[in-house]
Amino acid sequence: MNATEWKEKLSAIRGSFSVSIEKKPAENPEALELHYLGRKGELALLLRDLKDIPLEERKPLGALGNAAKQEMEAKLAELKGSAGAAGPVVKSDLDLTLPGWPYPKGSLHPLTHTMNRLAEGFLKLGFTMSDGPLIEDDYHNFEALNFPPFHPARDMQDTFYVDAKDQAGKFMLLRTHTSPVQIRAMEKQEPPIRVFHTGRVFRSEAVDASHSFAFHQIEGLYVDKGVSMADLKWTVDAFMKDLFGSGVKTRFNPSYFPFVEPGAEVDMSCVFCKGGHNSAGRCPVCKGTGWLEVMGAGLVHPNVLKSAKYDPEKWSGFAFGAGIERFAMLLYGISDMRMLYENDLRVLKQVQ
Ligand code: DAH
Repeated sequence: MNATEWKEKLSAIRGSFSVSIEKKPAENPEALELHYLGRKGELALLLRDLKDIPLEERKPLGALGNAAKQEMEAKLAELKGSAGAAGPVVKSDLDLTLPGWPYPKGSLHPLTHTMNRLAEGFLKLGFTMSDGPLIEDDYHNFEALNFPPFHPARDMQDTFYVDAKDQAGKFMLLRTHTSPVQIRAMEKQEPPIRVFHTGRVFRSEAVDASHSFAFHQIEGLYVDKGVSMADLKWTVDAFMKDLFGSGVKTRFNPSYFPFVEPGAEVDMSCVFCKGGHNSAGRCPVCKGTGWLEVMGAGLVHPNVLKSAKYDPEKWSGFAFGAGIERFAMLLYGISDMRMLYENDLRVLKQVQ
């Protein structure tokens, strides 16, 4: 090999090295190093060939060869650095087909689950879902529901007021019950109407095992021609049986709510003792009465129909409202309402 051939060979090696080093995705730097700079690498072999070239020409060629070697080493070091920064080189003994670690699944909150079950029951009965705001005006929460200003029935519901006024100049409030959704639904739709709503309500109450300042209710409303107390009793009984099983009984006691006439409180037979007493004596859930009070209901008051511009001579209806926490506690055997808000996984995991 003469000096010219040697130089051509060197530039060929440099050329193919720079192609390899530039490749995307990058080649393995260790393999490149071995191929070009290793003991039997291309450059090493070429440098060894220098011995065949006359001494006087050898010196500048040796300098060229060493410069090429340094340049390659620098580029390889750079490639190794960037490979490190991009993460470890995937080793071939990594088995991507192995199963991963089990990941705990989330579940629906008992309250959400209860609301879903209630919604399914009412959808089956032909009711549609309705909605309303959490921050209400006095008109929808009270006045249109036949609570006149200063009416003592307003005291039944300790109200949280909001520092903002409605168009009538009255303070807005956090809705104290889901009944305003009755009015909002009737404002949107002509009779006949069959709607329900589940959602959050607020009352200024101290928290204990059966009270909270924020809780959930379900509301139902049915207005049509000739709707009677018998329709209400059938509907309430069907929905309680859907939720708690066909063995559950319901009974109505007279009660007062301004927006219904007649008004009633609905009891269901106690799902724990089925009669007031269990093997341990007096049932603590129903306090030995055999009955649990679960909802308010009645026939829609003519004044309520009038405020929605429904003619009470032509239309009649029933309405009912119930606390969802109570149902969730009965369904999942939870004895203290606070457990529903504390997010203890032992409580939450009961529902899958
Ligand atoms: N809104 C009442 C409450 O929160 C519950 C209620 C009673 C709703 C009678 C009704 C009803 O629709 O007819 O105490």
